[in-house]
Amino acid sequence: MGSQVVAAIEAAPDLELHVAIDAADPIEAASGADVAVDFTVPTVVMGHIEWCVRQGIAVVVGTTGFDEKRYEQVRGWVESASGARVLIASNFSVAAVLMMRFAAQAAPYFESVEVIELHHPRKLDAPSGTAVTTAKAIAAARAAAATPVMPDATATQLEGARGATVDGVRVHSVRLQGLFAHQEVVFGNPGEMLTIRDDGFDRASYLPGVLLAVRRVLELPGFTLGIDTLL
Ligand SMILES: NC(=O)c1ccc[n+]([C@@H]2O[C@H](COP(=O)([O-])OP(=O)(O)OC[C@H]3O[C@@H](n4cnc5c(N)ncnc54)[C@H](O)[C@@H]3O)[C@@H](O)[C@H]2O)c1
Repeated sequence: MGSQVVAAIEAAPDLELHVAIDAADPIEAASGADVAVDFTVPTVVMGHIEWCVRQGIAVVVGTTGFDEKRYEQVRGWVESASGARVLIASNFSVAAVLMMRFAAQAAPYFESVEVIELHHPRKLDAPSGTAVTTAKAIAAARAAAATPVMPDATATQLEGARGATVDGVRVHSVRLQGLFAHQEVVFGNPGEMLTIRDDGFDRASYLPGVLLAVRRVLELPGFTLGIDTLL
């Protein structure tokens, strides 16, 4: 991701690359930048965010592995530094963000809904963070509309056959050679079905969202989660 973001910034006429940093380089090389973009690893990203906030550099973070505790820590740094700007997005794909939004919109109108995420077999976590976020958004929309519990007569099952449960929504993970990042949300009512499907074929899918965040993060004081508010 890092090298692709560097290439995208170099190709953008309105943006200027200040420096590209890999694991062996000192972070101090980023001094003087307006915006830093972090696609690294969960073990170092927190230190990078803290350093950038202290330096007054706005940060766009794509590195994954954030939980509520990490978000709270980042909020704390942002609140204690005036003018700090941090945007963290677990998915910069515009199609994926819209898929999640449309799934939440459709959620109250169907008796049943399940999420099927499909990824390349090198992926370390299951279900994907996007699938978890989708299931939570669906569950919140169903709860707000007081939608009844989903029908399911399963009485016996092999462990895992009905997938994982996220806030009451079933999530199924497929790991298949040849795939990149895909997700289907299937909704069912008596006599009808709606499928909302997002297919990411390669890393190019993330770049427009990253560039959007780089261009807009300076207008977003404080902490921003996701690129939804920018679309
Ligand atoms: N938010 C999104 O839309 C999105 C999309 C793709 C990937 N990701 C996430 O972004 C992260 C990176 O993904 P990737 O596929 O590019 O991984 P990758 O392993 O190809 O690249 C990680 C890079 O970080 C570098 N790095 C490690 N420690 C560093 C340090 N201290 N300083 C500077 N660089 C350092 C490594 O040398 C490597 O080049 C992962 O957490 C991945 O899950 C997020």
